Amino acid sequence: MFASTLVSFALLVWLAAAKVQFLGMGIAGGDFGCEIDGSCPTSSTQLPLSSFGMGGGDGPGQMTHFVEDDGMNIFRLPISWQFLVNNKLGGDLDVTNLAKYDKLVQACLATGANCMIDIHNFARWNGGIIGQGGPTDDQFVSLWTQLATKYAASERIVFELMNEPHHLDVQLWAATCQKVITAIRNAGAVTQMILLPGSNFDSAATLATEEGGAAALMALTNPDGSTDNLLLDIHKYLDVDNSGTHAECVTNNTEAFGQVAEFLRKAGRKGIVSETGAAPNGPDCMTRFCEQNAFINRNSDVFIGLVAWAAGSFDTSYILSLTPNRNGGKFVNNALGAQCVVGTWKETSEDVSSSSISTGSTPVSGTITSSATTTTSPVTTTTTGSSGTQASGSSSLTAPTTTHSGAWTMTVSLGREMAILLIGLVLAV
Ligand SMILES: *[C@@H]1O[C@H](CO)[C@@H](O)[C@H](O)[C@H]1NC(C)=O
Repeated sequence: MFASTLVSFALLVWLAAAKVQFLGMGIAGGDFGCEIDGSCPTSSTQLPLSSFGMGGGDGPGQMTHFVEDDGMNIFRLPISWQFLVNNKLGGDLDVTNLAKYDKLVQACLATGANCMIDIHNFARWNGGIIGQGGPTDDQFVSLWTQLATKYAASERIVFELMNEPHHLDVQLWAATCQKVITAIRNAGAVTQMILLPGSNFDSAATLATEEGGAAALMALTNPDGSTDNLLLDIHKYLDVDNSGTHAECVTNNTEAFGQVAEFLRKAGRKGIVSETGAAPNGPDCMTRFCEQNAFINRNSDVFIGLVAWAAGSFDTSYILSLTPNRNGGKFVNNALGAQCVVGTWKETSEDVSSSSISTGSTPVSGTITSSATTTTSPVTTTTTGSSGTQASGSSSLTAPTTTHSGAWTMTVSLGREMAILLIGLVLAV
């Protein structure tokens, strides 16, 4: 009797506590123009700094809105390597360009959120792979040493080493990442989170395989030998080829994220889903993106963060836009952002307060069944969100075909939580 009471109580606490610690948004624009071969023409960079009279979207205003209205606490600030060094590979950070990027970083820090520096270069510079025929490891280490030195005193800076490596030797890549980790820590940034990206575009579907390289990345350490704050970087889209360029959502990615969750649990490690998104008007996206994000939140024992793609300098008509609309003086999220990014996260916190259950219990492990061991490698042929000018794509989008209104989703979700609550209470008695 006592045991079953404990078990059911633990289950209740786990369900109530199941949401990622960090929820946030990609504040894009610094990555505009970047292609998957790592070429990033600086003329295409469009940092979201309109509030400073510098063009792009209103990144600072959006972040303030996301924090104050939605409780978000992490933002991803993509930037190209070329922009930071003004096209001088291996050179010093360019004073003028760094000052521009730093405006966005400081605006992020000012909201109280965590701020991810994302080098959006696909492990490349103008076609050459870092440490594998392209830039040398030393040149990449130089970039990160300078960034770590600049931000060493800012605890809430997150170092995301690289956006979406692909088609490379993942063992060599892991060795490159080890040099960067060591350099960042030795530059004085000893406590900040560092995100470690695997191959195949960080795809959740393949990270846990040899090709994905998660095992090689999880073997990397801080200079003191620990793995504190070294996190697996995880991406995934819901369209047919995992490219984030098609409107239709064909999967809720339960299997892919289940496999990564299982891998992390076995390894005793954690990760952050730093890029995932869906089309606001895409067939089945409201249902499947909400299902996916609810699943990620339920596995918050291993996934500590979820960062959606994207706002920033994207127009509200960009195919994956989560850029909030301006309504009078206020920002208002689109339905997909409101329901599937914020809603799936907030529902849980409402459960916590309404049922007065304390949080902090150890999550129940082994709740994920990942059946398939084979995964089809997503063929990603295009960079995600590399262009700020995809507005034309929206005209061909149809109205939402899903019948799941927000209220319906909420009811189902609350219904499930209530049913489990009742079962728990019955068990307890
Ligand atoms: C994901 O989709 C599958 C297949 O439609 C379904 O069985 C599963 O319950 C969904 N997962 C979640 C978390 O809703």
